[in-house]
Amino acid sequence: MKVTVRDFYKKKAEHQKITMLTAYDYPTAQMVDEAGIDAILVGDSVSMVVQGIENTLPVTMDEMIYHTRMVSRAVKNAMVIGDMPYLSYQISVEEALRNAGRFIKEGGAQAIKLEGGREVADIVSAMTRAEIPVMAHVGLTPQALHRMGGFKVQGRSADAAARILEDAKILEDAGAFSMVVEAVPAELASRITASLGIPTIGIGAGADCDGQVLVLHDLLGLFERFLPKFAKRYVNLKETGLSAIREYKKEVEDGTFPGPEHSFS
Ligand code: KIV
Repeated sequence: MKVTVRDFYKKKAEHQKITMLTAYDYPTAQMVDEAGIDAILVGDSVSMVVQGIENTLPVTMDEMIYHTRMVSRAVKNAMVIGDMPYLSYQISVEEALRNAGRFIKEGGAQAIKLEGGREVADIVSAMTRAEIPVMAHVGLTPQALHRMGGFKVQGRSADAAARILEDAKILEDAGAFSMVVEAVPAELASRITASLGIPTIGIGAGADCDGQVLVLHDLLGLFERFLPKFAKRYVNLKETGLSAIREYKKEVEDGTFPGPEHSFS
């Protein structure tokens, strides 16, 4: 059964954790869905972990739609959430709405995610009015990389923490159905979670959020450039893949592959 926003609310009310992972293509989305993960975020992190770019800023709307369609095609149960790329929602409410609508109409997503605090509240309201469920994203917002001076923990000072907490409430009031809380002290994430009626999904935000999200390529060991302190590598697929490819190379070179069982008579 397809996971909906109602399931998110129910899980929060019943103190059951919500699970979310990123995925960007058919085979990985199929794996994540079959594992029973509640939601798949087609994150703009695709830019870093698939496209090999330094940050998330260059990925385009057309590329995000391309990846979202592949994910939607694979998924039976998980909620598919399209991540709005940089400058797809910051220019005007009208443009934001049109781009969010593309994730639903062309990408087959059930919701979208966007980054930012009070400055995006009017956009969240407009999308909510247009029946597009919005996942907000506060704390470390990677599209603000240049303002933040890097991928840095946010909300460490009392003033910064108070502002993030206020932003979270404003975004809930604007209609967001859930909220990613990224890279903030665990105690702040815990306060945000307790003060909101909507579920929080943490990444680098401690154990008290209503759910957790990780970038799939970090979990699978497919992104080598760096592993954030908050990410956990559950398996090293790079190593496993590398040894399989080396074995294939050796077998082709020494004539072991293809064998008779791989050949036609
Ligand atoms: O793009 C992404 O993968 C994200 C998650 C880290 C929440 O925004």
